Amino acid sequence: MTDDTTPFTFASVGDLHVGEDKSPALRELFTEVSQTAKALVLCGDLTDTGTPQQAESLAEELRACRIPMIGVLGNHDYETGHAEEVKTILKGAGVHLLDGQSCEVDGVAFVGVKGFAGGFGKRMLSSFGEPAIKTFVSEGISEAMRLENAMRTIKNKRAVVVLHYAPVADTVEGEPLEIYPFLGCSRLGETIDRFKVSAVVHGHAHRGKYEGRTPGGAVVYNVAAHIEKPSGKSYALITV
Ligand SMILES: [Fe+2]
Ligand SMILES: [Fe+2]
Repeated sequence: MTDDTTPFTFASVGDLHVGEDKSPALRELFTEVSQTAKALVLCGDLTDTGTPQQAESLAEELRACRIPMIGVLGNHDYETGHAEEVKTILKGAGVHLLDGQSCEVDGVAFVGVKGFAGGFGKRMLSSFGEPAIKTFVSEGISEAMRLENAMRTIKNKRAVVVLHYAPVADTVEGEPLEIYPFLGCSRLGETIDRFKVSAVVHGHAHRGKYEGRTPGGAVVYNVAAHIEKPSGKSYALITV
């Protein structure tokens, strides 16, 4: 039993974009993190195009993982219209897939939603004009509200927010400016700042930056596999 002050280290990576072929490197990664971390947190784009075959291929490699697994889906996992099957396969492999829920490991709460696009700060897209724009904006608002509802249920002293899309512009820095609005949304960051959060992890911005903060000071990590991290590995090791 871990008390509330025992440091808790988890491994986190996003954007594995697993295809249908076997991946010994991935199996090695899952074996390695099982020895160094107390949980593995997967930040979406788990598969390349969301086919059941790709999900099965990831599930097979995840058998090497011996620690609790937590994850959210990313936009790529929706691409071919099989997201429900992908969820079922990954849940069957033991992943706590979060979509507006939370789970707990050693007293640390993990709260997850995929999130959505919409842009950042004063330049965030607002709900104005054509119905299509309003639908787009409402998807981002709905994801932020689902995160808020899940956060309200948390009683733990330490909470980690798991996302695919970025909640701040800080960690998408390095991406072309033109695509910032499609990489995340400040509405997620505003929601996070209404709570006490120990860390936020996300992916999606493959060319972004590892570390940033919400306006309220919560630390945010972009753990996309492509991002350079202090661990020197494709995954981050984060202690809360
Ligand atoms: Fe990705
Ligand atoms: Fe993505």
